[in-house]
Parts: sequence; structure tokens; C-alpha cells
Amino acid sequence: MTRQLQIKSYAKINWTLDVLFKRADGYHELRTILQTVSLHDRLRITETSGPIEIVCNDSRVPCDEMNLAYKAAAGLREATGTSKGARIEIEKNIPVAAGLGGGSSNAAVTLMALAKLWQVELDDREIIRLAAILGSDVPFFLIGGTALGIGRGEDVSPIEQIRSDHLLLVNPGFAVSTRDAYENLSRLTRSEASSRIPFTLRAARGIRELPLEASNDLEEVVLGVHPEIAEVKRRLVSLGARHALMSGSGATVFGVFDNSQLTEQAASEMRVLGYWTEPVRTIDRSEYQSTIFE
Ligand code: C5P
Repeated sequence: MTRQLQIKSYAKINWTLDVLFKRADGYHELRTILQTVSLHDRLRITETSGPIEIVCNDSRVPCDEMNLAYKAAAGLREATGTSKGARIEIEKNIPVAAGLGGGSSNAAVTLMALAKLWQVELDDREIIRLAAILGSDVPFFLIGGTALGIGRGEDVSPIEQIRSDHLLLVNPGFAVSTRDAYENLSRLTRSEASSRIPFTLRAARGIRELPLEASNDLEEVVLGVHPEIAEVKRRLVSLGARHALMSGSGATVFGVFDNSQLTEQAASEMRVLGYWTEPVRTIDRSEYQSTIFE
């Protein structure tokens, strides 16, 4: 019998992202609030006795050992010593290098699925450690929902769930390198830690309201290089969004709307202008964990 799993691999947004300082290891110390949303890729993972193979419907996604799902499978194989293989088929719906964590999400669900398929015994701490090596956002996708990320973003804790049913994702169609965004940030002199930290701490203790005062410290540098992102934010607000913010290192912007009619209207206006758009809602932790495996 072929052993196979179909998996949903959700995207994320950052409700807020505060950069504190550059660390001795070259990474930046963050306080961020991450959130899974309904946009998702689909993965089909089949256990084989051969090598690790990646197949993807999007030519912008590497199908070799550069692919994060490949790295996840290879990392798990090495950690457990199994000689089993896998064929990983990725149906890409999440824009690539877009601040939505698509590759990181693919890697995290691959770890979870292969642990089941290969029937390998690894404790949670070992899986989290493997995830953190793959990338700063990968451990978040092991829990999903609303979570606080500290350290380089990899040290995640579940917090009170933030719910929003009327979000619009807008992507201007160009990729942004996360590494470049942080490197440009380092060139700015920042004399004091972000003044928004108290907001993140309040949010971590539990907030009832959407984080309208939230911000993203990477916006300043990324918008400097790509003014079109600022234009997307302005347009979303003029189309009725209560709040619009770049997610992660961009270029995707999310708008928070009050109802589905406004969201759909804004989506069609943005589409006419040539932008990729996707109306989404938040996915809380229990929905995340009960819907990943189809
Ligand atoms: O962890 P990840 O591989 O996703 O990070 C990509 C790049 O982004 C890192 O190599 C680093 O240059 C930068 N980064 C950073 N501080 C973080 C996260 C990422 O400087 N907290």
C-alpha cells in the first residue's frame, strides 16, 4: 500500500514586527506577532524507498536541495537515521518571497507529515530544533494561530487568538529578499529600541481589539527601495481598510476591513490595477491543527 498524506500549508502575516537590535550572530532580535491565514499551498507527500524528490507547479520555486521542504526532509532523515525517501508535490498558491512565509510553512508541514509517514520517534523539542535550523519562521508553523515570536522570530509562544474575517492580501508582483531587507536596516542608525515594544507586550498579555497601532520596522527600509508598497498601503486605506501594513519583509501588504463587501470591492479595484489579491481570514490554532492533514 502506498503511504501518502495530503496537507494544507497555510500562509502567515505579521500583525506587528519590532526589530530591537542586531545580534552578535548577525541576526536581528525581534518581537513579532505572527498569524496564520486561510490562503494555503497544498502538499502531497508520498513515502518512497528512493531519494527525496520535489515537484512543483510554479517555476519560481526551486525543485532541488535549495527547496525548504527538501531541506526539511533531508534534516529529518539525518536526525533519525532513516533510509526512507519521499516524493513531495507542491501546489503553490502562496506568492514566493512575499513576506507570507510560504516556504517556511511548506518546510514545517513536511517535518510533521514525514514524522508520521516514516514513523520516526522524535520529541517535540527535537522537531522544534530542526525547524529553527531551516529558518526563523519555520517553528511558528508547527503551532499556527496567533503567536508571539521572540529571538530571531523562531522562539514562539501561543498567545490569545486575534480574529479577523475580512483581510485582503495584496502583492505588487516583485520578490523581496529577507536578507536584503535586514541588511539595509542595519545601515540605519537606530539610537533606541523600538517605541512600539510596549504594544507587543500588551498584545502578548491578551488583546481584544485588532492591533491598529501595530507597525512593522522593516517597512521603512523596504518602502524606501520599493515606493510602490507605500502606494498599495495608501490605496487600501482609501478603499476603506481600517489598517494596512506590510507583512514580514514584504512585498505583500494586508488590509483589515470591516465587512466582506468592502473587502471584495477593494480586491476588484486592486486587481484592475494589476495587483495580485486574495481575500483571507485568520486561522486560529485549533482550526490550524485540525485542518492541516486533509
Ligand atoms: O531565518 P531566515 O533564513 O528566514 O532568515 C533569512 C535572512 O534574514 C537571514 O540570513 C538574515 O540575514 C535575516 N534575518 C535577520 N534577523 C532575523 C531573521 C532574519 O537578520 N530575525
